[in-house]
Amino acid sequence: MALRGYVRGVIARAPWDPAALPDLSGRQYLVTGANAGLGYFASEQLAGAGAHVILSGRSPNRLAAAHDALEARVPGASVETLLMDVSNPGSIRAAAASLRGGLFSRSRLDGVLLNAGIVHTPRNRELTRDGRELVFATNALGHFVLAAELLTTLAKTASRREHTRMVWLGSISTHLGVAEPIDIQSERRYDAWHAYVQSKLVVHALGIEADARLRAADVPVDSVVAHPGYSIGGRTPTVHGVNEPGAWKRLRDRLQPFAQSKEAGAASLVRALVDPDVRGGEYWGPKLRTRGAPVRQRPSRWAADPDVRRRVWAECERLTGMEWPFQRAARAAR
Ligand SMILES: NC(=O)c1ccc[n+]([C@@H]2O[C@H](COP(=O)([O-])OP(=O)(O)OC[C@H]3O[C@@H](n4cnc5c(N)ncnc54)[C@H](OP(=O)(O)O)[C@@H]3O)[C@@H](O)[C@H]2O)c1
Repeated sequence: MALRGYVRGVIARAPWDPAALPDLSGRQYLVTGANAGLGYFASEQLAGAGAHVILSGRSPNRLAAAHDALEARVPGASVETLLMDVSNPGSIRAAAASLRGGLFSRSRLDGVLLNAGIVHTPRNRELTRDGRELVFATNALGHFVLAAELLTTLAKTASRREHTRMVWLGSISTHLGVAEPIDIQSERRYDAWHAYVQSKLVVHALGIEADARLRAADVPVDSVVAHPGYSIGGRTPTVHGVNEPGAWKRLRDRLQPFAQSKEAGAASLVRALVDPDVRGGEYWGPKLRTRGAPVRQRPSRWAADPDVRRRVWAECERLTGMEWPFQRAARAAR
């Protein structure tokens, strides 16, 4: 056991080359928020390794642009698009149903990258149509619903030897001495930055708690949390319809030496999704925190607290009116 841990540690420290991923032919991944930023570049890396990638987003035009760009940049890529607004539970359920219904190329799902998010949060508190605070609903609650909707499909695709995976998007902001996530919909006080950090704390807690519950229910699906450090558009290659920063943004972003491109940031997310040496419940991100090659890291304080995790999970169950189908997923996997 100790030897296996040591070997894993050595392997996990080995450099990760996004251009030389394990062969992913025959596998199928879903990426939310895939029309731009990290989601787009993660999709490119997955498709470049031979995976079939379902690019999901809320705008048909932006999705079509990303689809065209990816096909042009990755010859032979196998991709399709799925319309889904992650702040809208109805949209999530409809998209998940079409996926489960086999409308897509293959009825398997090897992993889902729960990436979509609002980074530039609104100045004032906004609500979704069903009355949830927008940042929390988009970054955290929507993915709680989506992961539940896809759990049985992920479990069916998994085998005892090879688990399938869900990856949640954390953030280094959750290490910056932030408060315990109590008022998770900012009902008492709204602050744009605080709303973002809190949503990411909730995501981090959900990602780790999901893994504990999956293990307890014997479901062969792993839940992992990853973050991209500080990844910005002005340091990222120009991709028509996907990333077209102006000269001023390029200049400004180049003056931030601790930042990296979104293409580089996507490597941590992809490693968390496909590296066979990653384990459920782990947290992955760039070596130098804001930039660098992906390495395993220590989770942020609140996400490591089991009481906080259980409370956050119960609150998401209450707000969505749903429980994850652990027993059904375990049966589907047998
Ligand atoms: N960049 C960083 O340094 C950094 C650091 C830590 C964590 N993260 C996390 O990484 C993820 C991606 O960030 P990014 O930097 O790539 O941001 P980005 O370039 O702004 O891309 C965000 C993506 O999410 C999509 N999205 C937003 N709201 C959505 C909704 N309601 N339904 C469906 N899709 C939606 C956007 O689609 P539209 O084009 O339609 O808006 C876009 O595709 C986020 O979860 C973010 O919190 C980023």
